[in-house]
Amino acid sequence: MSSNKIILTGDRPTGRLHIGHYVGSLRRRVELQNAGDYEKMFVFIADAQALTDNVDNPEKVRQNVIEVALDYLACGLDPERVTLFIQSQIPELCELAFYFMNMVTVSRLQRNPTVKTEIGMRGFESSIPVGFFTYPVSQAADITAFRANTVPAGEDQKPMIEQATEIVRRFNHIYGDTLVEPSIMLPDNAACMRLPGTDGKAKMSKSLGNCIYLSETADEMAKKVKTMYTDPTHLAVSDPGHVEGNTVFTYLDAFCTDDHFARYWPDYANLDECKAHYMRGGLGDVKCKKFLEKVLNETLEPIRARRLELQKDIPAIYEILRRGSEAAREVAADTLADVRRAMKINYFDDAELIAEQVARFAQ
Ligand code: TRP
Repeated sequence: MSSNKIILTGDRPTGRLHIGHYVGSLRRRVELQNAGDYEKMFVFIADAQALTDNVDNPEKVRQNVIEVALDYLACGLDPERVTLFIQSQIPELCELAFYFMNMVTVSRLQRNPTVKTEIGMRGFESSIPVGFFTYPVSQAADITAFRANTVPAGEDQKPMIEQATEIVRRFNHIYGDTLVEPSIMLPDNAACMRLPGTDGKAKMSKSLGNCIYLSETADEMAKKVKTMYTDPTHLAVSDPGHVEGNTVFTYLDAFCTDDHFARYWPDYANLDECKAHYMRGGLGDVKCKKFLEKVLNETLEPIRARRLELQKDIPAIYEILRRGSEAAREVAADTLADVRRAMKINYFDDAELIAEQVARFAQ
């Protein structure tokens, strides 16, 4: 029925999820879930990791746990098939991270390119919280506690998976084969690697106000699409236009199919024909934006509707997370029992150790 793939992935709850998350990861997760080609699949809300750079704003993290859970469920993650849990509810992760800390050097962490970039972005330079600095180690614990071998994530998470792999190798070398080496599963479509903001800036980010959220209304979205960044040199409709770096076309690359053209814009068979016209000149931005709006709505409308339904019973959402966290904890506890045995710190269960000490003191 299923291979022995164990999938694990998650998000920091620092905001509602947007369409960049959708094309970069959420869509893929739902496909993986529905394909059923896995032994277990875990998706979690990394609240403890979010706290590593939000120490002054714990309320933000607390509020966004439920937002992310609603986004997950609205996108189609099914708690019957996927274990949905909250990171902080699994104390075994802290324990494992503490043992892993000894297997990583400060200089190795300093070389982690994602951590480096994030330190710059947050202006931490001289006052980096220790927890933030070591979050790659904690992330290695997240992955290995569930024996995950497949981690669907974006390019920016590559250094984290590499670091986790090094830790696993080091652990297994010292203590014997115990933990599973993970590998990253990157998005399969270049357009999905990183969706730019509606202003054309490299990344969707809440602080730049350039996101389209899964939870916003069709009207809110329509306004954002209307003011989207396109090609600043495409002044008159008749002018030749550029599709490269043109946000409308980048979004179309990520979202539209030939079927969308058949349904909403039969002038073209596919996106290539549409792009060719735009580049030749004679195709205006307004038409392209209207089409993009229809394409986005087709994907987002069912998500919005499901979210509104889910919002009617918030206690039920927490209950899903509670049950998922309990199930996840059992799995992590099982791995930790193996880890303690391998490290020989399971003193009270180790009859051999006790016998050995008896013999030693009898001499
Ligand atoms: N670092 C990830 C992010 O910023 C979230 C995360 C935490 C994660 N632990 C993980 C992702 C383990 C994959 C596997 O989005």
